[in-house]
Amino acid sequence: MTNESRDPIESLFKEDRLFPPPPAFNHNGGMSEDLYQQLIREADQDYEGFWARLARSEIDWLTPFTRTLNETKAPHYRWFEDGTLNVSANCLDRHIARSGDKAAIVFEGEPGDTRTISYSELLTEVCRFANALLAQGIKQGDRVVIYMPMVPEAVIAMQACARIGAIHSVVFGGFSSESLKGRIEDAEAVAVVTADGGHRGGRIIGLKAICDKVLDDCPSVRTVFVLRRAGNPISWREGRDVWWHDAVAGMSPHCQAATVSAEHPLFLLYTSGSTGRPKGIQHASAGYLLGAILTMRWVFDIREDDVYWCTADVGWITGHSYVAYGPLACGATMVMYEGAPTTPDAGRFWQICERHRVRIFYTAPTAIRALKKQGDEYPRRYNLDRLRLLGTVGEPINPEAWMWYHEVIGQKRCPIVDTWWQTETGAHMIAPIPGITATKPGSCTKALPGILADVVDSEGRSITKPQEGGYLVIRRPWPFMLRTIWGDPARYQETYWGRFQNRYYVSGDGARRDADGYFWVMGRVDDVLKVSGHRLGTMEIESVLVAHPLVAEAAVVGRPDEITGEAICAFIVTRGPRPSASEQARVTETLRQWIAEQIGAIAKPAEIRYADNLPKTRSGKIMRRLLRAVASGTTVEEDVSTLENPDIIKQLQGDAGR
Ligand code: WT7
Repeated sequence: MTNESRDPIESLFKEDRLFPPPPAFNHNGGMSEDLYQQLIREADQDYEGFWARLARSEIDWLTPFTRTLNETKAPHYRWFEDGTLNVSANCLDRHIARSGDKAAIVFEGEPGDTRTISYSELLTEVCRFANALLAQGIKQGDRVVIYMPMVPEAVIAMQACARIGAIHSVVFGGFSSESLKGRIEDAEAVAVVTADGGHRGGRIIGLKAICDKVLDDCPSVRTVFVLRRAGNPISWREGRDVWWHDAVAGMSPHCQAATVSAEHPLFLLYTSGSTGRPKGIQHASAGYLLGAILTMRWVFDIREDDVYWCTADVGWITGHSYVAYGPLACGATMVMYEGAPTTPDAGRFWQICERHRVRIFYTAPTAIRALKKQGDEYPRRYNLDRLRLLGTVGEPINPEAWMWYHEVIGQKRCPIVDTWWQTETGAHMIAPIPGITATKPGSCTKALPGILADVVDSEGRSITKPQEGGYLVIRRPWPFMLRTIWGDPARYQETYWGRFQNRYYVSGDGARRDADGYFWVMGRVDDVLKVSGHRLGTMEIESVLVAHPLVAEAAVVGRPDEITGEAICAFIVTRGPRPSASEQARVTETLRQWIAEQIGAIAKPAEIRYADNLPKTRSGKIMRRLLRAVASGTTVEEDVSTLENPDIIKQLQGDAGR
């Protein structure tokens, strides 16, 4: 069977277990084997008609659309463009008559405080905050940066923006002040929504203080809304800062939802790419909403009486589609948790599942691996009998982690949906339909109806031979795809469509298909790392490193890590002589701290190695593949005869100290 120590990619190649859909699982979200086949046929026969029908049935339109897909400016596609709607009204108002008293959010803070918010209450809170935004002069199309802990107000702020047609850009609370500043500047945000602090890992993360480090240098920001959450002391700028509770005091609980066009930008979300600068992924309103709703039904089988919990932070796309929008648009009850999975101990997630009677649970492989490592006694302490469906996202899941999730958490009863998608795709793209698709540990199975995923070779030819790797592409535009990169349409075209002359959307992932046509995603083929499921650009980290006075040259690569999937390894050439063994620890600490300040703690290298120079070809290109081999301790198979200085390989390997 399986073996803990084997290389994850290697083990994925050998994986041949098949788990048929558990007979006890009834997909009630309206899906059956027949319907599934029918949807695939429908999309095949009339692609636009298929999406148009679903868009009409799932979305409450203010003006119905008459044009489905506009391809005239491809790859700048537009969907349903002459329709109008409001996304917030689709998430809230439409449930009030029938389920106003139903719980929308069941919140648990890290300290243990809980709060349940019904749909009616949520609508009221969203309207009040929307009115507060309007009162500060924030208008349709303005950008609002949200830098919040995982508390209901983060969702309220996002929904309030959607309500007035402002464009939110959520910045993950783990990013540093410099990252925050870069995103505020790129989006030219007029307001920031933050909190005094949030609870994480038993500590208070002082978000307002992080904002204060840079906000004086962000002239576009006129207003800073500050939620009182952790009660920690903060500093204040009169005339700019306003407490959330003061801003909403006296505001009407009603706010007419703005009418926006289907293509109106709903949000920007910055993500790392293969250059030094993060890109503002821009999503549209209607198409995005459609993707969130359909996948909640197809993949999560969301039902009236479910309690659903997606553990993702709203700072990531998963926290947008599967916390802030999808579950609300489907009228679901969702759990929201503020803190770390291991606070006070590794039983916290399972305790929350028991306490709030969670039925659908969605998390990342890195969390599964970290909790698995803590031992089975934690999940065994809690009653997990209510769980009926499990999901994963963010990176390939190794079969060992999958099996643990299946046996210990799902008690062999719950289907696992391994969902492949990206910030750019807006919603699930390749994923099983629970109860219908047989699953294989480590495979995201098959593309959803209407999604034309393919694996192609470097010439763009579809690879039909089983097990042969290639580029994972999508052959036709889909409603929930990104629309552009904020302020940089050329980069959008080049990054996602350039490689194959605008014929396909290029995901940046490598994949293969097995003899059953199942997709196995093998990871990024570009200079992007997935560290604990978080996306980080090697170039971004390198450019931060070389900006430090101690650093002359830097190269950053990933190496496999048992818990985080990939870990960051940096190779450094310092200015002046190479630091001695005793100096290295101090330099490493300085540089790790520098990266935490410039990007965020999530980008700190797990390891830094020092050399007199970096291995380069005679034409001056850094030999990254070689560095990856050195970082992961595998044999260097590169031809090093072309190296200027072949001795540095030994230097790099020897410095590892292991
Ligand atoms: C990248 C996208 C999608 C929300 C969270 C991450 C990797 C994502 C899977 C999966 C294998 C996966 C890919 C992708 N990825 N899900 N189920 N199996 N790999 O969003 O930060 O935009 O990252 O995450 O490499 O390109 P993101």
